[in-house]
Amino acid sequence: MAPLIVDALKRLEYRGYDSAGVATIEHGALARRRAEGKLVNLENRLKNEPLDGTIGIGHTRWATHGVPNETNAHPHFSGDVAVVHNGIIENFAELRDELAADGYKFTSQTDTEVVAHLVARELKRGAAPVDAAHAAVKRLQGAFALAIMFRNDEDLVVGARNGPPLAVGHGDGEMFLGSDAIALAPFTNSITYLEDGDWAVVRHGGVSIFDIDGQPVERRRQQSMGAAYLVDKGNHRHFMEKEIHEQPEVISHTLAHYLDFANGTARDLDLPFDFNAIDRLAISACGTAYLAGLVGKYWFERYARLPVDIDIASEFRYREMPLSARDAALFISQSGETADTLASLRYCRKAGMSIGAVVNVRESTIARESDVVLPTLAGPEIGVASTKAFTCQLSVLASLAVRAAADRGKVSAEEEKALVRALSETPRYTNQVLQKVEHQIEKLARELSHYKHVLYLGRDTNFPLAMEGALKLKEISYIHAEGYAAGELKHGPIALIDEKMPVVVIAPHDRIFEKTVSNMQEVAARGGRIILITDAKGAANATVETMETIVLPDVPEIISPIVYAVPIQLLAYYTAVFMGTDVDQPRNLAKSVTVE
Ligand code: G6P
Repeated sequence: MAPLIVDALKRLEYRGYDSAGVATIEHGALARRRAEGKLVNLENRLKNEPLDGTIGIGHTRWATHGVPNETNAHPHFSGDVAVVHNGIIENFAELRDELAADGYKFTSQTDTEVVAHLVARELKRGAAPVDAAHAAVKRLQGAFALAIMFRNDEDLVVGARNGPPLAVGHGDGEMFLGSDAIALAPFTNSITYLEDGDWAVVRHGGVSIFDIDGQPVERRRQQSMGAAYLVDKGNHRHFMEKEIHEQPEVISHTLAHYLDFANGTARDLDLPFDFNAIDRLAISACGTAYLAGLVGKYWFERYARLPVDIDIASEFRYREMPLSARDAALFISQSGETADTLASLRYCRKAGMSIGAVVNVRESTIARESDVVLPTLAGPEIGVASTKAFTCQLSVLASLAVRAAADRGKVSAEEEKALVRALSETPRYTNQVLQKVEHQIEKLARELSHYKHVLYLGRDTNFPLAMEGALKLKEISYIHAEGYAAGELKHGPIALIDEKMPVVVIAPHDRIFEKTVSNMQEVAARGGRIILITDAKGAANATVETMETIVLPDVPEIISPIVYAVPIQLLAYYTAVFMGTDVDQPRNLAKSVTVE
């Protein structure tokens, strides 16, 4: 049993990887193995100290409450109860005090342990396991996906969902519960997703699902698509390297989904709103997806003359902005599970807005709760630092902007054709960039890895790209980096400039190139060292001495952010490789963040 659970956990490492554990019922007793650090530590532990049993639960953790050590690793036990949990129990302090006053001893610093004690207390008060679990879950506030196992019932796991996803897998005489279909893929592709407030009684023979009030509910059983992917690195050292190289292909798949190259038009998407009837578009997302949205804002406003409000989802959900039911909202998320993005979606839903979701995981919660799913066809992205999902998100947004421009009558048929033609060239150019500059960037990265701070500058769509470059570098190489609008340089960051802080300038030879040249002069005048990413014309007209100039092909304006994303990804990647960091699973981060 335990090796099967570890196998499933491997597919869940994107959710966290700072410690892990498995528990089974072994000869009538609860038994567990836990280990700090990556899953491989748990695997080794289990090799030396195997676990027996035919029922079990497991967990790979991304620490919220309590440092990532073995004692804080899940499963947590209390008496006859074992629990694993994703999310945050917000009222845990109050519950802990109450349970401690009742004599319960806490051995970890986690919020999860209160759940184990709550269930154990209900059992002690005489409740049957299922009722004990239900009563305990009703006391919890916050976000959770839970699996609860009982020593004296080897035919029962209770699951509960409020926030982070939870899926039931149907087998033949065996049943499964997991955070997503991918985790369950080695066992089954017949899946039922729980909804918020649902809890499930899982036994070998089947599952019963109940809503928050304990009423039985029916939830659809579906075949999960593509869950059988067994993702591997191929010939690449890291998933991130592989995913960077997949971009020409996946961008091409994504664009073909949205654009009709033969007719030179953006496809009709059967949207739940009319681009011509809305006054504004609200976009919100987190991390890299947010930066894709920020590029999208420039496109929608420039080509479709459609005003866009763009927010970081964690701000959007609380800032009480006026929303109009006549407008549409767009949420961008690779995983489709990010807690803040999902909360923003629900906030807009309440406001009566039409909702579109640009997601990479089509079975995700965000996809399921939106009116229209606008998929990125990037395939599974494993590296924590998003690369191909980002350029595919950009591809979707650019295509949508063209569609919006056509619907709103802001482009002629000829102009639409020209934009579609330009977009159709993206895969070719990204491929060229990979072939042409990868080696140069690898060499430059060796040098960059000796610095402690890096500043990224750009204007227009290259401003979000500057932020994305800085984000990529800091998350995987741990070098401090900031992305700024080049015009803001003089309002603060210029104070930091000296020979110890290289400045990466992203500046194709566009209509505001000259302005960026002035900013580069300001940097050079203060001894700053410039890494310029530009095209041949830009290189010829830069008029400053650079530490390095990376020359990309001359590309049409609309696709420049997609093409220019590639060198900034490579720069971060190779710098991290030289620093010797864990590129695919950098410290403290997780691929999918299902807590606020
Ligand atoms: C995490 C990941 C980032 C990602 C962000 C948003 O922070 O490490 O790479 O951009 O979440 O995730 P989403 O799945 O919503 O795109």
